[in-house]
Amino acid sequence: MQTVHTLTDLRAALRQFPNWALVPTMGNLHAGHLGLIARAQQENVPVVASIFVNRLQFGPNEDFDRYPRTLPRDAELLAGVGCDLLFAPSEAEMYPQPQTFRVLPDAAIAGILDGAARPGHFEGVATVVMKLFQMVRPRYAVFGKKDYQQLLIIRRMVEQFALPIDIIGLDTVRAEDGLALSSRNGYLTPEERAQAPQLQAALRALADDARMATAPEQILLLEQQAMTRLDQLGWTPDYLTLRRRTDLHTPTAQDLHQGVPCVVLGAARLGRTRLIDNLEC
Ligand code: PAF
Repeated sequence: MQTVHTLTDLRAALRQFPNWALVPTMGNLHAGHLGLIARAQQENVPVVASIFVNRLQFGPNEDFDRYPRTLPRDAELLAGVGCDLLFAPSEAEMYPQPQTFRVLPDAAIAGILDGAARPGHFEGVATVVMKLFQMVRPRYAVFGKKDYQQLLIIRRMVEQFALPIDIIGLDTVRAEDGLALSSRNGYLTPEERAQAPQLQAALRALADDARMATAPEQILLLEQQAMTRLDQLGWTPDYLTLRRRTDLHTPTAQDLHQGVPCVVLGAARLGRTRLIDNLEC
């Protein structure tokens, strides 16, 4: 696997083949990321992974400084699964002058859920992903469904800017006890790690209960009950909610009646660590 750190070297390396698949990451790779690489390889084009901890998507009191940077180990993992190219730019290479032009996603999709809990987060994500797309010009790009709202926003961005990229979403990879794999799981103490699957269990219970609901008010009550239960277990929930898959808005009575595809999404803090998860239902 070739590793490049500059845009000049990236462009030279990309010239070897007409089409590429991109897997954007912030590093500290785990089996979930390697699953994204494997999925990209199914498109029968060479795969480029990017590793860049994107300051723009972190709030002022978030974990940008302590986000784990493990480049040598990540490069070994990527080489081990046959990734073709690693692009690991420095911050100066990625944002050579302050990035004053930004991609501002529609507030209807980016101002709710994680967008409400983390103001500016999706603007930072959309800006860096747009920039990576311009740098790499991939034919395909693969993202995990664990960041469900992020995936939806990226799909919309690609549609609205008519980018010639197929966006592929991959199911969340989980530990044996159900916890969604995430770089942030590494922040958990052993006690918190043992408790962490409670988030997924709460989402599963909410999905089961919501299946019977016929009105949005019932859903709201079930969501509040699910948040209270998680709170009693020592979590601080931001949201646990049932939404339509297409736009992440609350299903109407008619949607519920027609059984529109939904997803339950949750974000909650355990100690100092904020975890997110979701289940399609
Ligand atoms: O999902 C992530 O790891 C990041 O949000 C992404 C897409 C690499 C952008 O920084």
